[in-house]
Amino acid sequence: MSSVLDLARPELRQLTPYVPGDFAADTLRLNANESPWRAPGDDTERGLNRYPPPRPDVLTEQLSAYYGVPQSEILLTRGSSEAIDVLIRTFCAAGRDSVVICPPTFDMYRLYAEIQGARILRVPLQRSDDLGKDFSLDVDGIMACIDQGAKLVFICSPNNPTGSSIASADIARVCEASTGRAVVVIDEAYLEFSSQPSARPLQQRFEHVVLLRTLSKFVSLAGVRCGAVIASAPVIELLGRVLPPYTFPTPSIELVSRALGEASLTVAEERVQTLRRERDRLEAALGGLPQVEKLWPSDANFVFLKVRDSERFVSRARSAGILLRVFANDPSLADCVRITVGRPEDNDRLLAAVTT
Ligand SMILES: Cc1ncc(COP(=O)(O)O)c(C=O)c1O
Repeated sequence: MSSVLDLARPELRQLTPYVPGDFAADTLRLNANESPWRAPGDDTERGLNRYPPPRPDVLTEQLSAYYGVPQSEILLTRGSSEAIDVLIRTFCAAGRDSVVICPPTFDMYRLYAEIQGARILRVPLQRSDDLGKDFSLDVDGIMACIDQGAKLVFICSPNNPTGSSIASADIARVCEASTGRAVVVIDEAYLEFSSQPSARPLQQRFEHVVLLRTLSKFVSLAGVRCGAVIASAPVIELLGRVLPPYTFPTPSIELVSRALGEASLTVAEERVQTLRRERDRLEAALGGLPQVEKLWPSDANFVFLKVRDSERFVSRARSAGILLRVFANDPSLADCVRITVGRPEDNDRLLAAVTT
């Protein structure tokens, strides 16, 4: 047996999969207790009276081509959030196993771990006065947690909310040192905005390394909820047993499929270039303001800064009808603000609101 599967909850390795009813085109489908009529206004191709396929196979084929990975190495999920949940449920038994997170980071890792009853081991990103090195990975701290038996390590790069990418050499060190001992999840939700390459070569080298991708950011599809896990075939097979069938809805399948067409992807790529230029412009303009204490270079579609008085800064934006993100629950991020990069006119509006 593959060693990475040895890390999964033993009871899941014996799980009997659900066997769905057959679906074949041009047949009378009396095997799934569905309605024979479409609902008024249903203009989907498949018909919403029919269940979606147990797994969105055609879409999986399209996305595997898009990401350049074999179909056996990808699993589609409802947003990458669902992927985080499935990974934690697969590898962590309640009350027994633990997850490593590196705060400040995406809070859903904590949330799903707590829901599952997994222990959370926090290894904060390391602070430094050198902006380029700030929020670096504490590799030794992570390895100490793996020595204690941690099952899953979440690394977010580019990281939310700091916007910084994690040094590839540090990610590689964690992956190399954790072979056979823990699963390393590299969340690449913001990769398309980054100047760093994907960790795909590491994932190809190590069967315990897992990547998360999402269509929520760069193809403007947060509302359809489409994410993907990219991992070795045995891990994908196991996760596919834990993820229930029929979860991916028909309208999402059809909309995502269209969005992966050439014309739509060209638009998405042009928009990424615009957002990157706008991010640089925002960073330059905000960085020069007297009320901004520090601004970290971002590799994502948002900027992250520390201001002298976040309440005042945010309320000035709010008075102009603009919402910004603060982190009231995290004292280490006091007076820090995360600002999503908008369209050029949105960014002009924001700058006018906080500058005047
Ligand atoms: C780092 C990171 N990972 C994952 C997600 C979840 O994305 P989704 O569930 O929309 O794919 C987000 C959302 O903001 C995020 O910031």
